[in-house]
Amino acid sequence: MTPLSTIAVPRAFFGENFTASLIDDLMRQGWAYAPQALDPDLITALRADALHLIAEGEVKAAAIGRGDLEQRAPQIRKTSIAWMDGASQAQRDFLEGCEAMRLSINRALFAGLFEFEAHYAHYPLGGFYKRHLDAFSGPAQTGGPSAMFGPRAGRSRIVSCVVYLNDNWRDEEGGQLALWQECPLTIDNTPDLDALNDYPPSQLISPKAGGLVLMMSEQIPHEVYPSTRDRLAIAGWWRVNASIGGRIDPGR
Ligand code: OGA
Ligand code: MN
Repeated sequence: MTPLSTIAVPRAFFGENFTASLIDDLMRQGWAYAPQALDPDLITALRADALHLIAEGEVKAAAIGRGDLEQRAPQIRKTSIAWMDGASQAQRDFLEGCEAMRLSINRALFAGLFEFEAHYAHYPLGGFYKRHLDAFSGPAQTGGPSAMFGPRAGRSRIVSCVVYLNDNWRDEEGGQLALWQECPLTIDNTPDLDALNDYPPSQLISPKAGGLVLMMSEQIPHEVYPSTRDRLAIAGWWRVNASIGGRIDPGR
């Protein structure tokens, strides 16, 4: 038997109470935001890592959709990405904090989140990402965020996270994340993102260093406004194992 003391517990970003309050916001309103949440040294190391990957040409134009449906759509998304693979100490530290978060979310919500994927995103000057949901698979659920965890075919990304790496970002520089707490439905029960043109966002978040956002991936429509300066972020997703039921999880 393995002695308990040798089982590694992933180092969390935050203490238990702060983590619990974030998860509470996520459940109550479908999203959570904490400014200056992550350790400044970790943010500095992640920024250096991202800038290094950009300099090496490892950050490439992003597509939308997955698998066969994947397409480059510059009118929807103008940003470049590099997937995190744990190649640097900064990435390993970040992924470890996200693993601790996964365990906390699973404990609090019986969520069965299975794995995490994340990429650096570099928005050039004038970069943007039009209004979207990070995941969608069928009619929206009723009953609030916790209803997301019921059995359901085809779902995959459940909780999204975004972390900002921009030092001294000023509000006038734009690049805010706009999010809407609810998504109207068409008569076919599919999300009607265009209907939100008539509604101001529930929240505007400037991409300031260390800020952390959590969102229910299938529920919270959001959009990245153009900025007058380069914008660096990490976007990540906790997923359930979508290959359950004989369906192979589509590639990314
Ligand atoms: C995304 C995304 C938000 C942001 O990458 O899917 O919505 O503020 N990012 O960078
Ligand atoms: Mn998104």
